Amino acid sequence: MKKPLRVTITGAAGQIGYALAFRIASGDMLGKDQPVILQLLEIPPAMDALKGVAMELEDCAFPLLHDIVTTDDANVGFKDTDFALLVGAKPRGPGMERKDLLKENGKIFGPQGKALNDHASRDVKVLVVGNPANTNALIAQANAPDLDPRNFTAMTRLDHNRALAQLAEKTGKHHTRIDGMIIWGNHSATQYPDIAHCSVDGKAAPELVDQGWYRDDFIPTVQQRGAAIIKARGASSAASAASAAIDHIRDWHLGSDGKWVSMAVPSDGSYGIKEGVIYSFPVTCKNGDYEIVQGLEIDAFSRERMTLTEEELREEREGVKELL
Ligand code: NAD
Ligand code: LMR
Repeated sequence: MKKPLRVTITGAAGQIGYALAFRIASGDMLGKDQPVILQLLEIPPAMDALKGVAMELEDCAFPLLHDIVTTDDANVGFKDTDFALLVGAKPRGPGMERKDLLKENGKIFGPQGKALNDHASRDVKVLVVGNPANTNALIAQANAPDLDPRNFTAMTRLDHNRALAQLAEKTGKHHTRIDGMIIWGNHSATQYPDIAHCSVDGKAAPELVDQGWYRDDFIPTVQQRGAAIIKARGASSAASAASAAIDHIRDWHLGSDGKWVSMAVPSDGSYGIKEGVIYSFPVTCKNGDYEIVQGLEIDAFSRERMTLTEEELREEREGVKELL
């Protein structure tokens, strides 16, 4: 029997948290042979609801779930944790951009970064889901100087999965037949979903779809999918966001089998994206680590979009510099 791994979910009584906890406890994220301890962190007004979540988790009698901690104290919630899923934050409403949340949500991530720094496992892997996710991840990272800065990541896997779904529908092929999808940059309307290196059933994707569809339909649809879901559902995506978070951590921990996936990670100069932002790149994952896919040719169309989304991230960074 493997030793249980500790997984912290912040905002665990919220929409995404509720969708996440049960799937993690059933082994979808860390494997069907990996026991887990769930450490569920909330704010005081949500502690009753969180108690209900914990009661339901108990009632599932999941074989892999070894313990449940519920708390409104980040120092307890992050104690010895191996994986921290930072979900707890306000969602945007209709007509808002995600960066409009920065002032209110940004202040959550400094104290949480500090609590991770002081209490988490030294190898903790952090995924920020709460919006604006990339810059919140930067804030958490800046407040955790003793942890590996590379282990602070933000979620663009939902955008990646959305892009796969759109291209699969257009080409009439199942999304598992698609390789080489990329989301560059920010989890925002400036993100750049790029199919230049993509293949569908082994055929180059740009040859299967016309440029008009790619530029005027595919790219804006993926960029605006979050807003379209808010409009349709009256609430932001939850089950799909939880599923993408599970994909992100599962691949990071267990490997992506050579497949490219999109993760927002600290920029290291790859593709000319200078250090200092959490930027989405194509990565492969192996042995509990990720590596940015190198050597891709970037044409002028892509470069323009990659720069635009980088500039937005640098503006967001500038707007929260007192938190860094
Ligand atoms: P929600 O309002 O249903 O739940 C958020 C929960 O977080 C609430 O229960 C709240 O009490 C809790 N919370 C607030 N501050 C907290 C803190 N300091 N510590 C711990 N918990 C705290 O919202 P949701 O639909 O679950 O969305 C959560 C966040 O995820 C939002 O910011 C949303 O925009 C974002 N999101 C990101 C993506 C992505 O792809 N990156 C996708 C969907 C949603
Ligand atoms: C999403 O992409 O669905 C989330 O970031 C929620 C939002 O505000 O769009």
